Order: sequence, then structure tokens, then C-alpha cells
Amino acid sequence: MQKILVIHGPNLNLLGQREPQIYGKMSLENINAKIRKWAKQKKINVEIKQSNHEGEIVDIIGAANHKFDVLLINPAAYTHTSIAIRDAISAVGIPTIEVHLSNIYDREDFRHESLIAAVSYGQVCGFGAYSYILGLEAAISILEK
Ligand code: DQA
Repeated sequence: MQKILVIHGPNLNLLGQREPQIYGKMSLENINAKIRKWAKQKKINVEIKQSNHEGEIVDIIGAANHKFDVLLINPAAYTHTSIAIRDAISAVGIPTIEVHLSNIYDREDFRHESLIAAVSYGQVCGFGAYSYILGLEAAISILEK
């Protein structure tokens, strides 16, 4: 069975309470339930991790090498700052899809740059929790190759 690793970055554990006007009212548990339901329907194995720590995310990506076919990541604030996460993705070479709940290009200037985009297969942003499902659907096109 093909395997997708989903990583949620910092502060996404607070979804539902955190700026709901930007990120929506859905909790991370609810989003994860949607991801698991999707995976079950598609008969794809999915593993989900969340971390608030850059080094831990780097470790998770490093450990994923040869174990996962696709990586779906919302690096949250590290999107805009983390060369370490970018390098980890580049090092393992697992096709990666970057997702964001909000449209990062319609927000503060510092969110307009993603250090992750250039090492990603593609990016989905702006659709709230549905960004994850769109990202997973896009992953199928990679898995079928
Ligand atoms: C985010 C966008 C980032 O700019 C922000 O730091 C986040 C969440 C999103 O999903 O919209 O924490 O990645």
C-alpha cells in the first residue's frame, strides 16, 4: 500500500481556537479525521504528525526517507524562515506537496515568500481545511506516475 506522511507545523495544534477568521473553526483533530477518511476511501496508508519544533520536523522528514511515497506538509510559520526544513526535504527527495489553510499571498508581506515552494512538487493554499484534501488529491497524480 502506498504511504503518505502528513506533517503539521507549529501552532496548528491550536486550530479551531487560533484566529478562526483566518484559519477556520475546525480543530486539528477534525482535519486529521478528514484526512484519515480520505485515505481509507482511496486505500492509501497515511501517517500524521504535528510538531511545534523545527529540529523535530527536520528529524521526522529525515526518518521518512524510503518509508513514504509522498510528503504533505503545512510548515506553518517555518514556511517563511526554515532553510533547515527546506534542506531536509531536498535531502530525502520524497515528492512534497506544500499546503496552507490561508492564502499566504493575500496576507502580510513576510508570508509571501515560501522557502519550501522551490523544493516542493506543488503548493495548495487558501482553501482552509480543504487545502489538505486538494493536496492529497494532487498526491495521487504523483503516486500514479
Ligand atoms: C499557515 C500560514 C503561515 O503563514 C502561518 O504562519 C501559519 C499557518 C496556513 O496554513 O495558512 O501558521 O501555514
